[in-house]
Amino acid sequence: MNQQHEALDIGAELAARPALLRDACERAISYLGGVADRPVRPTREAVNDLLELGFPLPRRGLGATHVLHVLDEVGSPATVVSNGPRYFGFVTGGVLPAAQAANWLTAAWDQNAALAVMSPVAAKLNDVALRWIADLLGLPSGVPGGFVTGATMANATCLAAARDAVLTLHGWDAARDGLIGAPPITVVVGAEVHTTVRKALGIVGLGRDRAIVLPADEQGRIVPRDLPDLTGPAIVCLQAGNVNTGASDPFGPLIEWGRRHRAWVHIDGAFGLWAAASPATAGLVAGVEGAASWATDCHKWLNTTYDCGVALVFDPQTLRAAMEASASYLPGTGAENMGLTPQSSQRARGVEVWATLAALGRDGVAALVSRGCELARRFADGMRAIHTGAGGCEVLNDVVLNQVLVSFGDAPRTDAVIAAVQEDGTCWCGPTTWHGRRAMRVSISGWSTTEDDVDRSIAAVRACALAIQ
Ligand SMILES: Cc1ncc(COP(=O)(O)O)c(C=O)c1O
Repeated sequence: MNQQHEALDIGAELAARPALLRDACERAISYLGGVADRPVRPTREAVNDLLELGFPLPRRGLGATHVLHVLDEVGSPATVVSNGPRYFGFVTGGVLPAAQAANWLTAAWDQNAALAVMSPVAAKLNDVALRWIADLLGLPSGVPGGFVTGATMANATCLAAARDAVLTLHGWDAARDGLIGAPPITVVVGAEVHTTVRKALGIVGLGRDRAIVLPADEQGRIVPRDLPDLTGPAIVCLQAGNVNTGASDPFGPLIEWGRRHRAWVHIDGAFGLWAAASPATAGLVAGVEGAASWATDCHKWLNTTYDCGVALVFDPQTLRAAMEASASYLPGTGAENMGLTPQSSQRARGVEVWATLAALGRDGVAALVSRGCELARRFADGMRAIHTGAGGCEVLNDVVLNQVLVSFGDAPRTDAVIAAVQEDGTCWCGPTTWHGRRAMRVSISGWSTTEDDVDRSIAAVRACALAIQ
């Protein structure tokens, strides 16, 4: 046996595997046990210590047991506790135990979910999970789609199908001939479109910045008045859940207008579409079922593991035509994940989603959504009750979902309060600018946040706001 072969000893790897995985499991459980009590942001020392991991690739491997030890000792302290109960940054869910456990088992299965022949269980659970999601989100039953990395890719997937479909309507085969020489496509977005829709438009060749922009109101909703006439191929991008305010576009009149002009209506609902899952908020997204495609995420409000986006397209033919892949060694991919998403090889995301939905049930998902909204209102009330001598504390948005925007006066003071909140470590909130005003963004998306966590966070923010005059 040459030296290289000695360096990968199959027998030794197999013999060490059970103890290694038990060690990983124990370390993970111990990490999770500490997330509620740790400062939400890592210390500077912990982040500096990451330098230790940047050593030159060793000639002789360090061995999996040692590597796991180093990863835990150096890596764990340098994590942001985004799956803890007081992380309110971006739109970030924690991971539910059911999702976590299914993820671990699925990692052991190591399935490639591209084709049913590669993983019957992944194919089956993908189908079931997508059906359940469409049902929960009030979308047409059995609407086809696939799991992708996140809402960014889901937007790109849907917009690729949209692009091809509206060009086909006008006699152009974009999947075959591309866009050069194609009839121009009119793209319409709202003034508060999420940046990833623009990115997705760029990826699919429609340009980040050539869309017609419809005005939005003070909550970020498109104003459904004086809508332009659309001629030729057209795509309209709407939004469920503005990333700052949580507000959704008025779907009824906008979808009716889009359809009247034979436009493809797409909805970006990364987290906002989940409003449909709770009777308390379903009215906010009434009418979504009339669109032609939808992008959403499971790793945000549903609290699955990353990365888990969902692209759904009403007409299976258009999605298949855009995503098709064929080769002599492949089975027909028409009904396969590989033929319904941009990816070929892909992890079995549907398994975790199936496990999460099955564990929560319809009522559990509704509770997740309505609790996030209730806690957001509680947070907002707590902010309104802070009285400082220096510019006060103002909630800038109507708190209709799980998002809260808080101003602490002018921009420098607001930024200073946010920096102090992050440094304090009780909770984590990030900055944003809304209609010219600097604000702290609070997004309550994690499953484990309680009223007590919100109250502790309010107290911490209050102390920071009072300390900065
Ligand atoms: C409205 C909206 N669309 C798209 C995205 C992008 O999602 P992802 O990070 O999963 O790609 C986000 C992320 O916050 C969002 O809020």
